[in-house]
Amino acid sequence: MRQHVNPLSKNFDQIERPPSLIEMFDNSKLPLHLDIGSAAGEFLFDLALSNANWNYLGIEIRERLVRTAELKAREREIKNLYFLFGSANKILNKFHSKFIKKNLKSISFNFPDPWFKKRHYKRRVVQPELINILSNSMQSGSQIFIKTDVKDLFNYMDCTISSNFNFKKIAKKDFNYSKSFNPSKFQTSREKYAVGNELNIYERIYIKI
Ligand SMILES: C[S@@+](CC[C@H](N)C(=O)[O-])C[C@H]1O[C@@H](n2cnc3c(N)ncnc32)[C@H](O)[C@@H]1O
Repeated sequence: MRQHVNPLSKNFDQIERPPSLIEMFDNSKLPLHLDIGSAAGEFLFDLALSNANWNYLGIEIRERLVRTAELKAREREIKNLYFLFGSANKILNKFHSKFIKKNLKSISFNFPDPWFKKRHYKRRVVQPELINILSNSMQSGSQIFIKTDVKDLFNYMDCTISSNFNFKKIAKKDFNYSKSFNPSKFQTSREKYAVGNELNIYERIYIKI
């Protein structure tokens, strides 16, 4: 069982200035998807390799995973994929205006760490402050995707996002995946595990109004 990283630790207060989108991607004008807690990046590799007309950016707090994913993306010369190391909350709090521009179309929170104890809820990545930043900076029509196998965490994330009146839920049956960041409906690593172990998966999509 891996040791969870405390995102509130002072170790994450020093944030490297992220490069500009022009430096990250070959064509910075493509629609951009941001995956929060991208782990080793397998999901984003699948996406980037099959959708050359989108850019994919992962933010992950475990440095070793980020450095390995960066190396793999460089070796394979994948030009529409980039990884940033650090706490997503701290990075977005400080630098949201660098990525949350016209071309940021969607953000995913896939199977974030649950932090079950109430006194640790502040360590959960979905926080009202982060949703507030996103609601003030995402363009209308852009989307947030949440997915987890932990019912309590789902309820918490749903309540946090729904409490912000700038986001509206979209019924999954009305959602056109073919135009989204994930037209082939690739599964994340944790999702494959959840499916393989017949765990319930709770998911929701929100649109910025
Ligand atoms: C349970 S794993 C899920 C990984 C992947 N999204 C998936 O679905 O397979 C959660 C990931 O989020 C990362 N993480 C947790 N808090 C974070 C934060 N504040 N900022 C960035 N990454 C975070 C963890 O290190 C871990 O890799």
